[in-house]
Amino acid sequence: MRKPFVVGNWKMNTDSHTSIDLAKRIASESSEAAGHGVAVAVCPPFVYLQSLTKALSASGVAVGAQDLYYELEGAFTGEISPSMLKDVGCIYALCGHSERRHVIGETDELVNKKVTAALGGGLLPILCVGELLAERDASQTEQVVSRQIKSGLAGLSAEKVSAVTMAYEPVWAIGTGRTATPQQAQEVHSFVRKLLAEMYDDQLAEEIRILYGGSAKPGNAADLMSQDDVDGLLVGGASLSADDFLAIIRSAK
Ligand code: 13P
Repeated sequence: MRKPFVVGNWKMNTDSHTSIDLAKRIASESSEAAGHGVAVAVCPPFVYLQSLTKALSASGVAVGAQDLYYELEGAFTGEISPSMLKDVGCIYALCGHSERRHVIGETDELVNKKVTAALGGGLLPILCVGELLAERDASQTEQVVSRQIKSGLAGLSAEKVSAVTMAYEPVWAIGTGRTATPQQAQEVHSFVRKLLAEMYDDQLAEEIRILYGGSAKPGNAADLMSQDDVDGLLVGGASLSADDFLAIIRSAK
């Protein structure tokens, strides 16, 4: 049985006060939900990671980074290494989020280096994949997702990949209010699981968690997570409201 996993991606939002307030509210009320077997994590901006890992240390809520760099240290101005993230208490790291791919311009090869570096540094990567609207309209969803997964995980053994969480985030559903239907999400998640079975083995595919992301809200969370292959949600906008994020956590079974 895969344990449901709800992750809040705060993106470039909050400040030093609101990040702590939001984290504390989530921590105080999500323990009930976590006690029911739901794993919870939040991914704040880099600058608030350390204060958040401290504020959340006694809670069941894990902290993740929204990105990382693949080198260990050195002259890489502005970048953050896996060991720095580990040092401040991060457990997870998003890799290849659609905004990194499509706004910042990250390539599949760079995402692969980041997933590999995260694992090497003892972080648990959340590898994000998903197609653009034009790609969906051209019936290229499986082709795009398959390419992103094969290149994102290139060179990694099954043992390493078993520590990865997958996240399917169709780009057209992110921040648009246009959520994939539960059936659309299920179709792609099932495809991802079959692909992982082909690339590795049935056990890995059965155990790996695949999250859905893209306009997830309290009103659609339960339906999305009721799908066989949707193991949780990667929540953007709704994770900035404690009430909404907690409602989403409570709807995970
Ligand atoms: P929204 O929930 O705001 O659509 O964002 C989804 C997302 O990108 C989470 O990583």
